This record gives sequence, structure tokens and C-alpha cells, in this order.
Amino acid sequence: MPHYSRCLLCGWLVSQFVAGALGAASLRAGIKRSVFGKMPDGEEIHLYTLTNPNGMQVGITNYGARIVSIVVPDRHGNMADVVLGFDNLEGYLGKDPYFGAIVGRYGNRIAKGRFALDGVDYTLPINDGPNSLHGGTQGFDKKVWTARELSQVHPAVELTYLSRDGEEGFPGDLRVQVVYTLEESNALRIDYRATTDKDTVLNLTNHSYFNLAGEGSGSILDQEIMINAASFTPIDATMIPTGEILSVAGTPFDFRHLTRIGARINDDDQQLKFAHGYDDNFVLNHRGPGLVLASRAVDPHSGRVLEVFTTEPGVQFYTGNFLDGSVRGKGGKAYAYRSAFTLETQHFPDSPNHPNFPSTELKPGETYHQTTVFKFSTAN
Ligand code: GLA
Repeated sequence: MPHYSRCLLCGWLVSQFVAGALGAASLRAGIKRSVFGKMPDGEEIHLYTLTNPNGMQVGITNYGARIVSIVVPDRHGNMADVVLGFDNLEGYLGKDPYFGAIVGRYGNRIAKGRFALDGVDYTLPINDGPNSLHGGTQGFDKKVWTARELSQVHPAVELTYLSRDGEEGFPGDLRVQVVYTLEESNALRIDYRATTDKDTVLNLTNHSYFNLAGEGSGSILDQEIMINAASFTPIDATMIPTGEILSVAGTPFDFRHLTRIGARINDDDQQLKFAHGYDDNFVLNHRGPGLVLASRAVDPHSGRVLEVFTTEPGVQFYTGNFLDGSVRGKGGKAYAYRSAFTLETQHFPDSPNHPNFPSTELKPGETYHQTTVFKFSTAN
């Protein structure tokens, strides 16, 4: 179209028209199911692709009830996948640092893999230094969940899993349901529900690794974050909470205003040194029950914004300090040190051993219900 190239505005108008026409045809809201791979025993694993009317797409697999992809626009409408992960199931069956997974039964660490409940001592697998991390060696991230498409206004997938009494050392048959709903406001809502037949402890979270410039695009240190927390739970050298609840004021943990993630990450601070960066639980400022804005993250370059809302009392902000380029993700990209951050909404780590922390106990007859929303938008 040589005559259009002379007129920048005309060229732009034509490209918008073509994009709009293509968009209308291909971006139909709904759910598509495809094969994601096979488990070693031959069981077929699926990928559910949820699309909303704006063209935002979210990939969910029933292996580990994981978020595989989140494709959202930047300020110019360019789409990018903003979560780390793999192209197929095989990747997740290899070396995988919980990419996008539902973590359970207990998100984050339990000191020395021990806790007592109703006077009974329980022992969990040790898989992180002297401690138990993310539900043990065969946590919910490694389980095959049962998936069902839900017919409701917005595209939604339900995933259920029955964790048997004694699995990874935890008591009680636990029935877990996770529902992912993709809303028109470019919000991905996660509803967690669970019931038990014996007293147990439970702390579910989603372990998505975000890079708002696009997965595999390098460091996140120039992206900015606000965390709605006046205090945090400091850790010891093995990354177990000391039990204190400390004010963030005057520390590198003060993210009450939008701040570059990298601004203070290399400060001479013992907490940062223990975790090799940020890997801490923040105590969210709740003013009552219901959802609260936990965090806002902004990539000034692309303009992409992520807001996280949750009913949970805490959020674990982790800056990918254990990524070292050895994991090759989507398209074979090497995921480098600090090339993603997580915002794991949850109860506090090691709560069963800290009576001053909000309780993680679940009893028969009760229904555990927590909600977290990842909402995407853009800023100029
Ligand atoms: C959580 C932990 C981190 C690390 C990651 C997974 O964020 O707090 O220390 O274990 O999970 O690699």
C-alpha cells in the first residue's frame, strides 16, 4: 500500500481497522481445551485457555492447578505473556520452581517440618534446608487435579483435589476446590475453598512469577511496587519467621508508596542478606473482612499495571532470588536471577508454630474460603 505510507495518520487508521477486524474475529470470549502433555503413567493433562472480550488470555492446566500464561496488553495494545512458565507439561515435570502453581497444603515454610495440633505432633518432609517448604516433596503443585469448565457469565475453570489423611504428613481428608474466573475488567479471580474431616492446618496460595515487561525479558529491578503493609514478619537465617511483627518504617521493606523494586534490594540489611533479596511476608492493612488491595506493581516502560486484591492477611513478596538462568522456560528462554517477582497472598509462614499469628487451623464443619484477584490495566 505505497500511497498509505506517505500519510502516517492514514497508515495508522488502516492498521487499527485491520487489527480491529482481526480482533473481532479471533478474540471471542470463552474457553478452549487442548492437550498439554502426558504424565509418566500416560494420563492426559489439559490446558484451558480462557479469553475475555478484550482479548486477555489466561492459560490454566490441571497439573498443579497452575496458571501457565497471562497475556495482557501494554499501553499501546501490544500483548505479552507476563508470567514465567513452560510451553508444555514436560517442562513442569522437570526442574520447576513452582511456576504458577497452587501451593498446598501449606504455602511457605514450617520450621523443621514439625507442628503440634490438639496435642498430637506431626512431621512433614524436610525439603528446604532444615525446614518444610510449600507442602513437602509432593505438594499440590505436583498433583493432577480434576478440571471442569463452569458455564457462567465469565469464562471459569474449577479444579478439585482430594488430599488424603496423612498425605505429606498432614492430618485429615481435605477436599480442595480452586476456581479461576476471567472477568471483563481484565481481572483473574481465584477462589479457594476447602473442607476437612479432621482438624488440620491449611495455607493455599498461587505461585505465579510476574514480569510485567513480558516473561523472559530480563530483570524486574526497574519495575515498581507498592505493598499495602505497615509491618512484616522478619526471618532467621533459615528463613523462618522469628515471631516478631516489625514496622516497615525506615527499612528497605517500606513499600507503602510505589518504589523501584531494585531501589534498596542490595542494601546492607540482614533481612535482605538472609533471603538474597526480598522473600518476606508482609502484614496487610485490612480494615475489616473482605478484599483489600495488597499490592500494585507497575512497569514504567510498557505501562502494564498489576493490582492484587486479597482476603488473606499476608503476602509473600519474592524477587526470584533463586532463579539463576538454569531453568529454560517458554521458547527456551533462560530465566535469569531476579527476572520475576511473586506476590503470594497467604497466611503467615510457620503459623502453626506461632500462636500470635492468625490461625491456619481448619476444623470439620468449617469451609475455608479465600479469594485473590490479579487485575491488569495500563498507566501512561
Ligand atoms: C517462596 C519462598 C522462596 C522460594 C520460592 C520458590 O517464594 O519464600 O524462598 O522457595 O517460594 O522457589
